[in-house]
Amino acid sequence: MAESMKGLKRSCRCGELRLEQEGQQVTLMGWVHRQRNKGGIIFVDLRDRSGLLQVIFEEKDCGPENFAKAEGLRSEYVIAVVGRVERRAGAVNENLATGQIEVRAKSLYVLSEALTPPFPIEEASKTKEELRLQYRYLDLRRPDLQRNLMLRSKITGTIRDFLSGEGFLEIETPMLTKSTPEGARDYLVPSRVHPGSFYALPQSPQLFKQLLMCAGYDRYFQIARCFRDEDLRADRQPEFTQVDLELSFVDVDDVIDATERMVQRVCREAIGLEVQLPIPRMTWQEAMDRFGSDKPDLRFGMELKDVSAAVAGCGFGVFTSALEAGGSVRGINVKGQAQMPRKKIDALVEFARGCGAKGLAYLAIEPDGSFKSSFGKFMTGQELERLAAALEGQPGDLLLFAADKNKIVWNVLGALRQELAKQLGLIDGNDFRFLWVTEFPLLEWSEEENRFVAMHHPFTMPMEEDLPYLDQDPGRARAKAYDIVLNGVELGGGSVRIFQSDVQEKMFQVLGFQKEDAYERFGFLLNAFKYGVPPHAGLAIGLDRFVMLLARAESIREVIAFPKVKDASCLMTKAPGEVEEKQLAELGIALRTQETGPEQTGAGQA
Ligand code: AMO
Ligand code: AMP
Repeated sequence: MAESMKGLKRSCRCGELRLEQEGQQVTLMGWVHRQRNKGGIIFVDLRDRSGLLQVIFEEKDCGPENFAKAEGLRSEYVIAVVGRVERRAGAVNENLATGQIEVRAKSLYVLSEALTPPFPIEEASKTKEELRLQYRYLDLRRPDLQRNLMLRSKITGTIRDFLSGEGFLEIETPMLTKSTPEGARDYLVPSRVHPGSFYALPQSPQLFKQLLMCAGYDRYFQIARCFRDEDLRADRQPEFTQVDLELSFVDVDDVIDATERMVQRVCREAIGLEVQLPIPRMTWQEAMDRFGSDKPDLRFGMELKDVSAAVAGCGFGVFTSALEAGGSVRGINVKGQAQMPRKKIDALVEFARGCGAKGLAYLAIEPDGSFKSSFGKFMTGQELERLAAALEGQPGDLLLFAADKNKIVWNVLGALRQELAKQLGLIDGNDFRFLWVTEFPLLEWSEEENRFVAMHHPFTMPMEEDLPYLDQDPGRARAKAYDIVLNGVELGGGSVRIFQSDVQEKMFQVLGFQKEDAYERFGFLLNAFKYGVPPHAGLAIGLDRFVMLLARAESIREVIAFPKVKDASCLMTKAPGEVEEKQLAELGIALRTQETGPEQTGAGQA
């Protein structure tokens, strides 16, 4: 039978007690982690979010009634214990912060009983994630997840503190709104009052924060929930959180400065990491050329080299035809891997194909300096020497090459570089390498839509010197856009915004929007700009990703209390779910089909 707290007040958390409190009477409340009955003495490991503490029950201290209750304790019962802190009679437990002490119980209250959990509540759980997510409230009792969520709370606290100190105002923007321009699919919410009309959940507060700048709130921030209906992966959830900023009367450097000082403060206070400022910067072009990625992982080398000049006019058609088609040939040097077995190389070729390559050419430099290559027969010895030299190949090295359009070559070698670093253990897990990537292209050609699309969003300011390209060669224009990258993950991004109507109109023109369409979608913003708009810029950090990296977690699911799985469902609440016919009728909605949605098998969904 569950007892009430009988007016008891918890005096401290379990994990907070130390030898200094020896002799004190304490009142503890928490979960029975484990109960061991050794005959005349019962040991209970009591757990709360601060950690574990050993409690001992002996009849001489607690009386027969409490002792009998202690005998009946099982894992996950919630109890209250009053007792005295003592130095441990038995061996000190070095693995426990409270390992030098124990609490000798005087009284015990069973506040609630518990069923046996479907999996053990323990650190580094081996239980399948699917089952854990189904019982997320139990999973969340595990120390690793508790640490992650405590870290997350610490981080948001530090961010609020820092930004308030810098004169930022925290302002909330609507969740029920119109479509925002971040390029993913919207989540729609039907309106009962306006049958046939829908709100969109915000993909970001982008338009509202720009309106706040128009309204004079010159430094805004929000810890904002965003919604995007897109393909999920380890660092993407359908709803996620941004630390969203916008500032007036600023340019690129001001946003970078405020952000990096915030990042520095968070890293220091959350995990004791000292980030050296300024964070290095690299243009997008350099990032692509050297790392094949706009979010390069700087924790290891293996940089890409353009070997187009070295292979120009050689006998290998794969290389020369890529060059003739306006592409490039680039390679990476995998140091000391010349002896990589054929099977492993074949697997790399397959990996490259998976990234869009037509193939992957290799040249191994044997310890004696001779070459083994998939294309050796098409090239002269001299040509091979020149190619090896272009990648600074030494005996023992394995050189890998991709030839294609630049975009494909970057993509393939960038992914291969990351994959090989993982396979070869080149990444130091204790290293945190921040980077700003700047001067992104303004536009990206979409084969699908056969038009330019904004690489960031349509309100991003072109670099002044590139403005003329908007008429002549839009693809060449660079943007005042920047991303902050940590260990190969895009942590956040932002831009300086267009605030001049002529530039904005040009931008819409390049994007192929009719003026009416632009006004239909974003008219409230464009109109607002007519009433006095300050130059402004901003950025958003993906809070989940930031916490994931600082917690050294594998996925953002590990730093979100109630995450969704790959098909965007919640295994615990079973959302999304069907609704009653009556609700649909009220909303004026008739379902077109009754077909079931994506398969609900659950297996491997996370
Ligand atoms: P952007 O779209 O780059 O910019 O988003 C900013 C950051 O949000 C995080 N993020 C995500 N995290 C988890 N799951 C997702 N599905 C997801 N999508 C994005 C990333 C990303 O870097 N309004 C602009 C910002 C601005 O210009 O001020 C924006 O939303 O870490
Ligand atoms: P093939 O003549 O097509 O058998 O190709 C010879 C070698 O070149 C093989 O090792 C292929 O994997 C490789 N290869 C083919 N296409 C490309 C490409 N676009 N880039 C790099 N290597 C390629």
